Amino acid sequence: MCGIIGYVGEKQAQPLLLNGLKRLEFRGYDSAGICVLGDNKNTLALRKLPGKVKGLEVLLKKKPLSGCLGISHVRWSTHGIPNQINAHPHLDCKGEIAVVHNGIIENYAELKESLVKQGHRFRSQTDTEVIPHLIEKFYKNVPLEKAVMRAVNLLVGSFAIAVVSRREPQKLIGARWGSSLVVASGAGGHFLASDVPALLDYTKEIVFLEEKELAVLTKGKAVQIFDFSGALRQHKASRITWDVAQAQRAGFPHFMLKEINEQPGVLENILKYRIKDGEVFFEELRIARQELAGIKKIVVIACGTAYHAGMVARYALEELANIPVSVEVSSEFRYRQVLLDKATLVIAISQSGETADTLAALRLAKEKGARVLGICNVLGSTLTRECDAVIYTLAGPEISVASTKAYTAQLAILYLLALYLARINSKIPPERMRGYIGELRQIPRLQRQILDNQKAIRRLARRHSHFGSFLFVGRHINYPSALEGALKLKETAYIPAEGYAAGEMKHGPIALIDEYRAVVCIVPQSRVYEKMISNIQEIRARRGKIIIIATNADRKIKELSSELISIPPVNEIFSPLLVALPLQLLAYNISLKRGCDVDQPRNLAKSVTVE
Ligand code: M6R
Repeated sequence: MCGIIGYVGEKQAQPLLLNGLKRLEFRGYDSAGICVLGDNKNTLALRKLPGKVKGLEVLLKKKPLSGCLGISHVRWSTHGIPNQINAHPHLDCKGEIAVVHNGIIENYAELKESLVKQGHRFRSQTDTEVIPHLIEKFYKNVPLEKAVMRAVNLLVGSFAIAVVSRREPQKLIGARWGSSLVVASGAGGHFLASDVPALLDYTKEIVFLEEKELAVLTKGKAVQIFDFSGALRQHKASRITWDVAQAQRAGFPHFMLKEINEQPGVLENILKYRIKDGEVFFEELRIARQELAGIKKIVVIACGTAYHAGMVARYALEELANIPVSVEVSSEFRYRQVLLDKATLVIAISQSGETADTLAALRLAKEKGARVLGICNVLGSTLTRECDAVIYTLAGPEISVASTKAYTAQLAILYLLALYLARINSKIPPERMRGYIGELRQIPRLQRQILDNQKAIRRLARRHSHFGSFLFVGRHINYPSALEGALKLKETAYIPAEGYAAGEMKHGPIALIDEYRAVVCIVPQSRVYEKMISNIQEIRARRGKIIIIATNADRKIKELSSELISIPPVNEIFSPLLVALPLQLLAYNISLKRGCDVDQPRNLAKSVTVE
């Protein structure tokens, strides 16, 4: 998820673009770049560098750019490490056209191969760079918008782009398909941006481009919008009532709530990107198939929420890929005399890729001769540089300290990895494989159904926000969900909460149960459903305050408690992808009711870079 902003008009572009970029930094901060058409109209002058907008600002103080047409970008890397060459904007061969892009071009490899054969010279490892070269190819005796239109019709994936050309110094073109792009007029000209906050200092009247639309912004003329076949479209501007801070959170009161609500979209993206022709596909995986086929054991290392994702994965990997798995918190693993060898695959999971304990554990695993595969959200982070191979979770920046969308993105990748290993080891017949993939594709829709029920979950959370302690219980693949539910509540609402395997209750924790204890029972339809019902009966007999997360319309469950959160029916193996959402919403709403700092809970940091 990158941020883009472009301007054409009467004013100097640099300060307007820089200000807009600062408002978009929540979308990415791997690198920042700007391109302005010089006052002499002969050069597209570029300034770009890895790191945050602050660095770009310092550079522009030393080497300012003058001109009234420009585009700029903050990057959340997907292809190519965050260095200067890969930073946007990207140019065509002649330095005549500049492009900034948000999204992923899935067919970039094929396009690049064909463009290289036609003589185009590429400089970066990005997918984006195919766009200026494609436009260059079509930019012969036609206006820029026509060339852009031909180019975007060849792109597969998701994109929002802004394009300028040295040949047409009064024009800025934008196009979108799958990534957001907005248009507005203000500050003596027109703007394009990937998100509203970039523009709120100049105007509150915003036009939201729709899918497959292209906008032509010309100095001194009205904005024109076309669809990708060239037909003219009309849009009315919407009046934005949010302030800048609200707009960065897309209108949500907190990043945590925004990120919870982003989960169906994140999952859709992952599945779109990782499944090709009905088969799981990891483009960046650098471990050969034969080597993966020889794996005899998997060891997962991770901390916190990422550790819980690893625990869910143990059930999935053992059941689908038939490989024994152990899961350890990195802080313990690093001090053990671990027995690893070449036939062990170590999977290090981390949202940030900077967690000190996980980095130490992966270094130890490498020393012992194991192959290490990283699952990470941040491109170019330390973990991704040190692992033998990496799979990116593609969840976009996660700002709230409590991990939500990164967790379900990790789960999605681990399920796909289990299916991938099952395929290369021929553990699942093709028909069953297709069934699993079909079921995974339904999950974003089912997650949306849960999110549609947010008000009821909020009311339930409020009714229980006074409890001084919580217990979360689940079994089998939802035992880790119970641990994750308890962690979310602890860290956001500061309430003592414990996660337990429900079958273990009789071995001690049941002594805690009385009418002052809230017990969240996770009981979707599954092989352990009846066992869970018995466990809940035992809690009920001791007057515990029971909250149940269960499959819709489950009569038996309704008899056990009126405090019920329904989730849609789903294959039990994928149920943690649904169960996570009510647990997150429960924690979020209780935290809010208790007046806690939801996004930045006390004593915590987003990246734990010390031991
Ligand atoms: O960046 P990482 O995934 O390595 O971080 C691991 C934990 O610190 C993290 O998941 C932490 O537990 C979260 N605050 C949980 O919401």
